[in-house]
Amino acid sequence: MRKKVLAANWKMNLLRNEALDLYSNLDLALLNFQEIETVLFPPSIYISELQTKGNLSLGIQNIYFENKGAYTGEIAAAQAKSIGCTYVLIGHSERRELFLESDDLLKKKVNSALAENLKIIFSCGESLEVRTKKDHLSFVKKQLENSLFHLSEKEILNCIIAYEPIWAIGSGLNASEQQAEEMHSEIRYLLAENYSNKISEQISIIYGGSCNTSNAAQLFACPNVDGALVGGASLDKFSFIELAARLK
Ligand code: PGA
Repeated sequence: MRKKVLAANWKMNLLRNEALDLYSNLDLALLNFQEIETVLFPPSIYISELQTKGNLSLGIQNIYFENKGAYTGEIAAAQAKSIGCTYVLIGHSERRELFLESDDLLKKKVNSALAENLKIIFSCGESLEVRTKKDHLSFVKKQLENSLFHLSEKEILNCIIAYEPIWAIGSGLNASEQQAEEMHSEIRYLLAENYSNKISEQISIIYGGSCNTSNAAQLFACPNVDGALVGGASLDKFSFIELAARLK
């Protein structure tokens, strides 16, 4: 069966001491949730200082697709791996929108991450404009086709898909259970169509966008929602631990 996944995306938040403090609290508390795959995406400059005593996996919020060389400010997949990362986040809408990352660039990042045996949380999701036109299903389908569905069966099994509607991220307005389940079951169907039922059933599809302690139980009750990628609510240890308890 597929894993339940709870991931924290700290984005560009927290100073060093705040990050170390939150990390040590979470790392210990999450020991009680061994059956869930918990992943933390801290700001990359802190990662090498974080030593897990439990089952919290570390991920990097971004990589560049080249292995090494003259790319000032960038970080390669192999470098992320060398400081203890096992995951990378690719396709987040903030990277797509603010840093103009195209489907084609994301595809290269996906390939580069897998070449270093990093697992991927691949984020997809539509804008409010696209949803208003009722084009959300075909929009997300294209995102997956353009950046992910070229992978082999073995490779796609190292990916978790995060459905994160842009209008829900940081807005306090989460997708309803119906909206989340509609998209998650569509993604599951696309995985079956492009790979097989067996593969599709093994891949975790998680939800992101204003997921918090007041809406998590309803979202996690959806048959195709296997967990969450959490921004704001992951910056508070009590909220994040409560989310793990809801998912368990
Ligand atoms: P949010 O962010 O939980 O603050 O909406 C989610 C994300 O951006 O991954």
